[in-house]
Order: sequence, then C-alpha cells, then structure tokens
Amino acid sequence: MITRSDRRRLLRALAAGGWLAASLLAAGCRNDMRDQPRSDPLESSRFFPDGLASRTPVPGTVARGQLGGDLHFETGMVSGKLATTFPYPVSAEALARGRQRFAIFCTPCHGQLGDGQGMVVRRGFKQPSSFHVDRLRAAPPGYFFDVMTNGFGTMSSYASQVPAADRWAIAAYIRALQRSQHATLADLPPAEQARLLAKPGAADTAAAPDSLPAAGWDWLLPVGGDRLNPLGGDSLRHPGSEDSGHE
Ligand code: HEC
Repeated sequence: MITRSDRRRLLRALAAGGWLAASLLAAGCRNDMRDQPRSDPLESSRFFPDGLASRTPVPGTVARGQLGGDLHFETGMVSGKLATTFPYPVSAEALARGRQRFAIFCTPCHGQLGDGQGMVVRRGFKQPSSFHVDRLRAAPPGYFFDVMTNGFGTMSSYASQVPAADRWAIAAYIRALQRSQHATLADLPPAEQARLLAKPGAADTAAAPDSLPAAGWDWLLPVGGDRLNPLGGDSLRHPGSEDSGHE
C-alpha cells in the first residue's frame, strides 16, 4: 500500500528528475547556440585557400542602394540643382526604350499622350496635370527624373521598378511627347514636309519617317557629362555640337 509519505517522496523525486532533465536540455541548447557551424566576420577559415572566412566581393560589385558616384545620372541633380541636361547622349534606341517603358509604367495614369487621362484616372484616381502645360514644358529633364525617383504627392516612387538609365530614357521620351504636341511643319525633315505638302490629307495615313531629323536634338535633349549611353545606339546629337549643353 502506498502511504501518504511514499506519495510525497515519489512526487519530490519526479520533480527533481524533471528539473534535472530541463536543465540538461537547456544547457545543451546553450552550447549548440554558442558553437553554431558558421563563420563570424573577419574570422579565419581553413576551408578557403586564402585563410579568410569572408569572401571578397566580385570586382565591380555595387551594394544595393550604393551610388556609383555619378550624381547627375543617379539623382538627377547637378550641384544641388535639378539637372538641365541628360547625363548621356540620347539615342534613337533610348527614345524607343523610353517610349516602351513610359507605356508600361506611366500611361495607366498619365495616358499615352501624357495628358493625364489614363485609364486609372478615368476610374477615379487623382488626375495628374498634363505634361503639355507651360510649367512642365519648361521643367528641366532632372525634374522628371526626380519625380520618377522620389515620387510626387500621390504618385509613388518608381526607382525600384525602373532603373536610372530607363528613367532618363522616359524623361527623354516625355520631352519628345511634349514637342509632338507643339510641333510645326518646320520641325519635320524637308522630305517629310514635301510629302505632306504634296498630298493634302496624307498626314493621317503617312507612315512614321524612316529616320529621325539629324539636327535640332540639342535643344530638346541637351547632354551634360561624358557618360556613354547605357542603352546603346548612336547619339542623336549632330556633329559639331560636342561642347554644347555641358555645365
Ligand atoms: C498610379 C498613377 C500614376 C502612375 C502610374 C504614374 N503617375 Fe505620375 N503622377 C500621378 C499623379 C496622381 C500625379 C500628381 C500627384 C499630386 O499632385 O499629388 C503625378 C505627377 C507626376 C509628375 C509631376 C507633375 C507636376 O505637376 O509637376 C510627373 C513628372 C509624373 N507624374 C511623371 C510620371 C512618370 C514619368 C511615370 C512613369 C514612370 C508616372 N508619372 C507614373 C499618377 C501616376
């Protein structure tokens, strides 16, 4: 028969055993945590031939968020002011790229024409002002780059979705869009002017010109700095304009 004192002794033994098991387990945990099979920074290692646990980054590695040192290209600012020039010579390829990126990222709100009548706006989102108002026609390229990079009011930043080279290409395309809504016949290459004048009404059906006008781009897309165009293609700047647009 189990007496009352027997039962108490049994309980005490069980409690002591439980405590022992728990403390052994805890000690085991502590040791595992302390001796994890990982390398600490600056630790030596016998695994790698150079004896270092940390690997040296591949040459040219850029940490996320680290600037490449070209503030004009990365921030759209020159000497603390919005850049009035593009950081690389704009090519026909860059304009085509800008047009494509604009269609993907901007038209839902700003519309194909940049008039602020995109589908999302027509469904109730805040309407941005048209790119064709005088204030935005006079805004420097750096302004458009800055808005895309940092956002503007209700509009969020596009820096994480659109790389810097593409943001500049979009800014260049917006310039071309703005020009397109304020163009005169004199802006067309002579061959195109002749074609339009020869056939009244041909403007509606005329195919896009095969080549872009060779001159006049410095006014529209001035370049500052000597960065190569990261999007490829020959510059639209015409010969003899090498020094204009530099700050
Ligand atoms: C989701 C809708 C939306 C998208 C997409 C969008 N925007 Fe905007 N954008 C706006 C709105 C709304 C404003 C006005 C914000 C305000 O006034 O609060 C604005 C403002 C701007 C402005 C400033 C205009 C001014 O009045 O000074 C620029 C420039 C601009 N957007 C360019 C772009 C470009 C370039 C893209 C594509 C990369 C883009 N936006 C994509 C909604 C959008």
